[in-house]
Amino acid sequence: MRIMVVGAGGREHAIIRKIAQNKKVGKIFALPGNGGIAADAECVPIDAADIGGITAFAVKERVDFAVVAPDDPLVAGAVDELSAAGIPCFGPDKKAAIIEGSKIFAKDLMKKYGIPTAGYATFDSVDAADAYIDNADAPIVVKADGLALGKGVIIAQTREEAKKAVHDMMEGGLFGGSGKRVVIEEYLEGPEVSVLAFTDGKTIKPMVSSMDHKRALDGDRGLNTGGMGTIAPNPYYTEEIAARCTEEIFVPTVRAMNAEGRTFRGCLYFGLMLTDRGPKVIEYNCRFGDPEAQVVLPLLESDLLEIMIAVHNGTLEQTEVKFSGGHACCVIAASKGYPEKYEKGFEITLPDYRAPGTEIYFAGAKLSDGKLVTSGGRVLGAVSTGGTLEAAVSGAYGLIKTISFENMFYRNDIGGRALKAVKTR
Ligand code: AMP
Ligand code: GLY
Repeated sequence: MRIMVVGAGGREHAIIRKIAQNKKVGKIFALPGNGGIAADAECVPIDAADIGGITAFAVKERVDFAVVAPDDPLVAGAVDELSAAGIPCFGPDKKAAIIEGSKIFAKDLMKKYGIPTAGYATFDSVDAADAYIDNADAPIVVKADGLALGKGVIIAQTREEAKKAVHDMMEGGLFGGSGKRVVIEEYLEGPEVSVLAFTDGKTIKPMVSSMDHKRALDGDRGLNTGGMGTIAPNPYYTEEIAARCTEEIFVPTVRAMNAEGRTFRGCLYFGLMLTDRGPKVIEYNCRFGDPEAQVVLPLLESDLLEIMIAVHNGTLEQTEVKFSGGHACCVIAASKGYPEKYEKGFEITLPDYRAPGTEIYFAGAKLSDGKLVTSGGRVLGAVSTGGTLEAAVSGAYGLIKTISFENMFYRNDIGGRALKAVKTR
């Protein structure tokens, strides 16, 4: 089979490595991929946002199956265009991808169908938002309606800060068109859990749970990033909580999307907070998380491509989705200065030997004169699986210590909170 994976990050690298395990796969194209992915797939310099270019390429190269991984092309309708051109795809169509594309849509959906989430109000005028903030208790959560590279959420500690966030988004052009409308939300507390789930619109099969570490620096300090590391499974997500989430959140979401005429087929990402009033949805994403995919997919024992094809065909119920029962940890190596300004172009030194059960998934890396050099903020993820969380965490740190590039930094406490939770149980 000829497979095309759209996207350029560590998530796409993890998807490609897993798909390559299927014996029927002859060729994998990555659009555009990156210098590290080039070892596992043929990288084609067509941007993930160039839907016309992607579709024309898939048709010309007679691609048998396409996976659209990033949010932007999904929300912009890449799957609709590929499908119209006769290319079978994994990923939601535009009507369903709105669950991530518009936070206002997602909040209104949850309210209408009784899915637990933070209380909220939505605004398209600054004056109305200001008046609301005058009567709200801090901290106040302000969210841009549209896509903002995972950075569109501001947790304001005072009313003034909340008002500034609203003004910056609605009038100051912060996040462009995505900030023209905002959601103001009740502040929730509790451990966060990411649950990715396969769904064909009839059946939903959750994957092993995970925990992201979104802040740039140790101790959850510094700016929000796309994610600095992950562990799986998440020890806070007990079987009892999982059963409750399936009943109160996962199944109702699939049904709600069907009832709205927006059947979701693909990977639905539930960002959950386990509050003392039960699990609540913080956000939906219409795709695999990054770097959640880098810890979830190495634990998947079933065939990823077969599952993706089953999601496309509507036969997920009969298809096995089985996880190993082991643990995984991913530590992201980033360029100093990320998520703000950083330098690029430094050569990446890799180990000659990698221990079994470890993987390096590349993101901001490109080939230059045959050498792998840094080209982005998040450069790569060092991943290890293990029989215990402790073994996975120490494996990932053991691996990252064998990798180097100028201005490299990473968090030293990925999995720290989870390890404490395991020990106090
Ligand atoms: P999001 O991009 O929606 O995942 O939000 C980014 C991060 O902001 C989340 O992972 C949470 O840590 C935090 N956050 C979002 N919404 C809330 C909320 N209502 N209460 C507390 N923290 C929140
Ligand atoms: N790691 C969070 C996300 O992919 O949105």
